[in-house]
Amino acid sequence: METPFSLNRINKQKKLVVLTGSGMSQESGIRTFRETGGLWEEYDVTEVATPEAWQRNPELVMRFYNDRRKQLCECRPNAGHTGLAKLETLFDVHIITQNVDDLHERAGSSKVLHLHGELKKARSTVDPSLVYNIDGWELKFGDVCEKGSQLRPHIVWFGEPVPAIEEAVQIVQQADVFAVIGTSLNVYPAAGLLNYVSDGVPLYLIDPNPSNVYWQVDIIKEKAGRGVEILTRELEKFL
Ligand code: APR
Repeated sequence: METPFSLNRINKQKKLVVLTGSGMSQESGIRTFRETGGLWEEYDVTEVATPEAWQRNPELVMRFYNDRRKQLCECRPNAGHTGLAKLETLFDVHIITQNVDDLHERAGSSKVLHLHGELKKARSTVDPSLVYNIDGWELKFGDVCEKGSQLRPHIVWFGEPVPAIEEAVQIVQQADVFAVIGTSLNVYPAAGLLNYVSDGVPLYLIDPNPSNVYWQVDIIKEKAGRGVEILTRELEKFL
């Protein structure tokens, strides 16, 4: 008996790995970090996104992330997020994101690995394995884990290890096609993931203003929404 075409396709799904950064969510109304008007222009990163900042001025750090979370509640996934979710009908899509928002998940992507933590989660300050969903936008002083210690934002701050990086490396090594969307590739170890892409694997970059491109890569000089549409057409040749 002949295998139906759709089943055949599913069995042979190729692995599409996508590394995303803040530009992915820009069209949803979330600010990027290093561009003009970016978050790190308004805030000193050392004052809000380091373990030292949390020791020195936890109120400021808490307010910074509460504000980000409040804003995220008003944002919706954009065409780029939904376009990547739709690609799951054609590819085994793995998203590795530097973003702490949940817009990939809300768009319907099923395999999302967060390198830098998740804004809508909190974790214990004594036991990092204790991670909780935050109801609404506000994490407060006095919100404690089951061991009784204060919860902190579930964010990987500068100077902290990136626990998900090993899993990310393994995913990247298995990629049949690799795409990078909306990141300046300034922050390591995330940017270093490109070094683990196997030789000969097609590489795409979607960014209206690309920088730090040291790899042989097809550049789609568009915002994420339109860029994912173009990428989807390009990828048809790999089916
Ligand atoms: N679509 C696609 N790309 C875009 C868009 C858009 N609509 N708008 C901007 N960009 C691109 C910019 O041209 C830039 O190359 O997104 C990139 C954003 O770069 P950064 O501001 O440096 O953000 P990112 O690379 O995600 O930062 C990495 O640094 O401080 C941190 O932890 C934070 O995860 C973050 C990490």
